[in-house]
Amino acid sequence: MAAVVSRQTLAGESDNLNKNDMENLQTKEFPALPYAYDALEPYIDAKTMEIHYDKHHRAYFNNYVNAVKGTAYENMSVETVFAEVSKAGDPIRNNGGGYYNHVFFWKNLGKGTAGPSPELSSAINQAFGSFEKFKEAFSTAAKTRFGSGWAWLYITADKKLAVASTPNQDNPLMDLSPVKGTPLLTIDVWEHAYYLKYQNKRPDYVEAFWNIVNWDYVNRLYKEAV
Ligand SMILES: [Fe+2]
Repeated sequence: MAAVVSRQTLAGESDNLNKNDMENLQTKEFPALPYAYDALEPYIDAKTMEIHYDKHHRAYFNNYVNAVKGTAYENMSVETVFAEVSKAGDPIRNNGGGYYNHVFFWKNLGKGTAGPSPELSSAINQAFGSFEKFKEAFSTAAKTRFGSGWAWLYITADKKLAVASTPNQDNPLMDLSPVKGTPLLTIDVWEHAYYLKYQNKRPDYVEAFWNIVNWDYVNRLYKEAV
């Protein structure tokens, strides 16, 4: 049985804000969940969190490690692999995406943060008209992704904010993705992310998500990216 992560939520904790963790993500060890399984209750229940992290996420990590073993990708960071993932094949694409996207998603979640920084708020207003319109666009992308996938707030090549969804375990860092840029915020809309608590009601899960966005982390990513 896996050890239960005992630390409490931690929006603002320095290790939860370190972007380098993502840039240097490799195959050495399965990253710890940055909070306890019940830290995001009642929005995400402890059982869902435990199965999501310790079964689903861990399986992507293990399968990715096996897929890159003995290849040129073995000692590259996952982000570097994504830049040429079209050549790497589906096992690396799907499991590398599953590995990376979940690490990113855990960092995106937390409690008690104030909201977008003045800089990010201003960029959101410029791109979407208002925070409410951004929220609506992001939520719509999450709710309307057919089947399994992810919705993203990301920065495009010309430094503008945009919202889109990707299928399966694809993400905006992958060379083959039509949605391309630097991710700031994501939501996992695979059924395994919400089915135990929300069953078929994905919109309720998407609505709950807004209570547990770790804006400190998103603000930090935005500041570093622009
Ligand atoms: Fe997931």
